[in-house]
Amino acid sequence: MIQMAIMGFGTIGSGVYDVVNTNRDVIRKNLGGEELDVKYVLDLREFPGKPVEKVLVHDVNTIMEDPEVKIVVETMGGVEPAFTFVSRALKAGKSVATSNKELVAKKGVELMELAKENHASFLFGASVGGGIPIIRPLVRCLTADRIEEVAGILNGTTNYILTKMDQEGTSFEAALKEAQDNGFAEKNPEADVEGYDAGRKIAILSSLVLGKSVNFEDIYTEGISAITATDFKYARALGWSIKLVASGKIVDGKVYAMVAPHLVKPEHPLYAVNDVFNAVMVHGNMVDDVMFYGRGAGSHATASAVMADVVEEAANLGKTLPVSWSAEHQEVAPVASSEK
Ligand code: HSE
Repeated sequence: MIQMAIMGFGTIGSGVYDVVNTNRDVIRKNLGGEELDVKYVLDLREFPGKPVEKVLVHDVNTIMEDPEVKIVVETMGGVEPAFTFVSRALKAGKSVATSNKELVAKKGVELMELAKENHASFLFGASVGGGIPIIRPLVRCLTADRIEEVAGILNGTTNYILTKMDQEGTSFEAALKEAQDNGFAEKNPEADVEGYDAGRKIAILSSLVLGKSVNFEDIYTEGISAITATDFKYARALGWSIKLVASGKIVDGKVYAMVAPHLVKPEHPLYAVNDVFNAVMVHGNMVDDVMFYGRGAGSHATASAVMADVVEEAANLGKTLPVSWSAEHQEVAPVASSEK
């Protein structure tokens, strides 16, 4: 039996709990017959009458001091206290799987180093693209290619809003409210609508491709808060749509990265990516174009990606090949000059 704990029982954390319980047989099969169970769920709230009550704890020490807990899932969001708790878990030799892009973009290198020092793993497959398996495929499958470009729709909330505005004439505010009600949006939805969330995600992907730290604050970022019904009227007159695109193009070891709304033609592969769906296009110098598509946000989809990391770690305990990059700073070049 491999025991895990979940820190944070919100949209994603409760999804992780559901995945473990609903797909217990699948997980057992994929672990060669080994059972995986949730020993603790950490949350400040009470959940009276819910099954989670039996494993609910309010003190993080319970998890940190229990040697039986080998893997900890962090689904609290934000940098603190997530960073403190994740650091403590890694120092205790526990592996951590997180869906927290802010944590990975701001503190990823530190946590990767800490994991290495303590023979544990820091896994963040759910931090980009919700349920889409993109992190591991990028560095564990496309291993013989020089990756020249990563681009796509990396934020479910903004894609949901743009789709509703375009196809149903919904107002920006009403569409955002729907995205929040569906559990897609960040606690502070400014991170979604101003493009910061997509910026963190393209910084993570670019860092992985280059093996160096791309700082999301160096990336030109423009969100969708200025897009109006009039913009869609003009786009529709051309037969086009508007999508928030994040891209990182690698030319001669430099990365040209940006997040901005783009006019997209019907023949473009991103045109048909609607609602909460994300798509990531990867261009390798040998394989050419590869495209990944799936739900970019939401409880069960993101929890599926978290649990894929947990299952990988449970199968290899402490020996999962690290997915990481170095602390060396990678300069970001302005996008316009990448046009050759
Ligand atoms: N708020 C994020 C989104 C959640 O809408 O894409 C998934 O990272």
